[in-house]
Amino acid sequence: MKIFKHIAPLKEFLKELRLKGKTIGLVPTMGALHKGHLALIKASQKENSHTVCSIFVNPAQFNNPADLRQYPRTMDRDTELLKEVQCDILFCPDNHEIYPVQPAVHLDFGNLDKVMEGEFRPGHFSGVGIVVAKLVHIVEPDRAYFGQKDWQQFAIIKQLVEQLNFNLKLYSIPTLREPDGLALSSRNLRLSSDLRPLAPVFFKALTQAREKLKAGEKIHDIKKFVREMVEERPGVKLEYFEVADSQNLKILENVNGASRPILCVAGTVGEIRLIDNLFLD
Ligand code: PAJ
Repeated sequence: MKIFKHIAPLKEFLKELRLKGKTIGLVPTMGALHKGHLALIKASQKENSHTVCSIFVNPAQFNNPADLRQYPRTMDRDTELLKEVQCDILFCPDNHEIYPVQPAVHLDFGNLDKVMEGEFRPGHFSGVGIVVAKLVHIVEPDRAYFGQKDWQQFAIIKQLVEQLNFNLKLYSIPTLREPDGLALSSRNLRLSSDLRPLAPVFFKALTQAREKLKAGEKIHDIKKFVREMVEERPGVKLEYFEVADSQNLKILENVNGASRPILCVAGTVGEIRLIDNLFLD
């Protein structure tokens, strides 16, 4: 595996590959890699001759400095994992390489970044959009791979790519879960052994909410049910539970006429913030 910390030699290397007619898949991550990340890498390897995994804990997308400080960093283990799955290229720049100057640009995604994560994490999606734009311009991939677990992030990146004519194809890969349903997440590493058993509550709430929605119950009543179910567990808090149109992320009061509704949830277990979602179908 080739490892690059700097942009110029990476671009040089990728240029040579492109001249030889090779295709490039990009998997952007913030490290602390797990099987969910590896599923994105596998998807890229199937469709591209070369896969670039980037690991960069992007300060611009953290609205909470403590969250940025405590975000898990496991670079040595990540490098080993990437070698094991035969990833071709690791790009792991430092802050200065990506942000030699603080960008004055801010991105606004209309409705997409005003709801759910956007409401609870102001500025987050502008930071995500900026770093993904930078990574895409550095790597110039044919394809890029993201997880369904962060559906709102995917919808926003899709809008960025479509509205600014970025020249690549995007793919969303289904969420990988622990056997008890907990969505794999780098943040799970921070769950202590007494908090870990509480964490699947969000997935359980989503599956039960989906059954109720399919049975014709009102979203208003399902919201109340989810809040009660989540918050009866001490130490667990719900930030939001919403049913949204998965294309324009409009929050729904009923699912009639919506395009592929998605149920989305976020909350905290102790101090650890978790998100998850399920499509209605
Ligand atoms: P990170 O949280 O490291 O996630 C990297 C990619 O892995 C994202 O596309 C995310 O949706 C996907 N992913 C996370 N958990 C997953 C799971 N359980 N199953 C499948 N895919 C999963 O998302 C980010 O980093 C950053 O915002 C980034 C896009 C890299 C920009 O900084």
